Amino acid sequence: MVMMIGVMLVGLNGAVANTVVSGVKAESEKKSLGSILATNYFKDIDFVKEEEMVFGGWDVFYTDAFQAANYHKIIPFELYKNSEEFLKRLTPLKGYVNEWDTDEAINSDYSIKMWNLKNFMEAVNMVRKDIEEFKKKNNLENVVVVYLGLPLKNRRKLEDLNKVCFEDLTMLDGNYLPSSVAYAVGAILEGCPFVDFTPNLTLQLDFVEDLAIKNKVPLAGMDGNTGQTLMKTLIAPMLKIRNFKLIGWYSTNILGNNDGKVLSRPEHKALKIEDKLSVLEPILGYSDFEHVVDISYYRPRYDNKEAWDSIDFEGFLGLPMSFKINWLGRDSILAAPLVLDLIKHMDFSRRNQNYGIQEHLAIYFKHPLRSRYSRSNIPLYKDKLVLSFFDAFNLLLEFYKKIPIKN
Ligand SMILES: NC(=O)c1ccc[n+]([C@@H]2O[C@H](COP(=O)([O-])OP(=O)(O)OC[C@H]3O[C@@H](n4cnc5c(N)ncnc54)[C@H](O)[C@@H]3O)[C@@H](O)[C@H]2O)c1
Repeated sequence: MVMMIGVMLVGLNGAVANTVVSGVKAESEKKSLGSILATNYFKDIDFVKEEEMVFGGWDVFYTDAFQAANYHKIIPFELYKNSEEFLKRLTPLKGYVNEWDTDEAINSDYSIKMWNLKNFMEAVNMVRKDIEEFKKKNNLENVVVVYLGLPLKNRRKLEDLNKVCFEDLTMLDGNYLPSSVAYAVGAILEGCPFVDFTPNLTLQLDFVEDLAIKNKVPLAGMDGNTGQTLMKTLIAPMLKIRNFKLIGWYSTNILGNNDGKVLSRPEHKALKIEDKLSVLEPILGYSDFEHVVDISYYRPRYDNKEAWDSIDFEGFLGLPMSFKINWLGRDSILAAPLVLDLIKHMDFSRRNQNYGIQEHLAIYFKHPLRSRYSRSNIPLYKDKLVLSFFDAFNLLLEFYKKIPIKN
């Protein structure tokens, strides 16, 4: 008998989550494109399959997944029209919001306002109950939770948040920590692997990983590496190996989806820009170059993001040269296969008893996290495990080489 696994997405009706759920049902022979796990390197590993996933999740925007797909228009209608019945049944549970959320989420009628709860732990317990009921309703033993909500406001410094321990949650008011932490802690206490695809601080809170280790739960994050930053992790090693001196790297993005709208607000943008700025220095090994990253909201492009990079460098005798990259990527089409890969990795890690932050998944993230329990000697840049694209890929391969392959 096939064992189904549950997948609960935070932000179920958002562009990325909706591309995941309508994409897995789409009538296309090209569903494996964009997935690292669909390459031959991993063909002998027994990952869970898309057909074995049962989807659910939370949002503060109530509609069914079919309407959401019609709204986003990311996947052509002909590809998902025959899944209408399946998608219409897929509606979100009420999302949890507090002062860290976007104003739209705070003002949504379809949300649980955490400031009205007794304390932060009450929200955690409600998330637990949601997961428990989802498991019961769908007859599931295991669920993976993926955070695909929005970049939250940056209201309090990480060092202050890190003074909090798990036992404090019953004493803290519902606004104290980001709402994303309620989802993460709820998932961990239910024994569910948790992935953070966003630049939020959730998995950087020390007590969160400690709790995951105690409860035997894998974690992965943070901030999906889908486009411009991915190119940087590829090109920076070339500059280094050819011994070209980087003088400046100017990056700009125009993005017209909701993520772009939220990221155009300074209070939501800070962590994302920091993640985007962090990749060059650790790969090149020096910092005396200009690095500018900007994100602008430009509605006509919607999900079809455009990024420009102008790279200035010096060659032989210090003579200046430059090259340009014009990246025309579809944001959610790039992200969805990575989210599906991450669900498979997390289920695999749970079955193979690998708990806490999964460092081998660095290739998937702009801000790959180092585990507090790590034995790795890869140097950190600030708090990040930034690697070149190929070093990150080798780390992933190394991990699976140690796992016995199926016969
Ligand atoms: N697409 C990419 O290439 C990419 C890359 C890296 C990171 N990300 C991150 O992934 C996330 C999702 O991106 P998107 O384009 O789908 O954004 P989106 O705005 O389309 O989707 C976010 C969804 O989350 C919902 N939401 C907001 N607050 C919530 C809460 N408190 N609880 C539950 N749901 C809530 C919103 O209603 C919305 O439906 C963003 O944080 C983005 O920065 C995306």
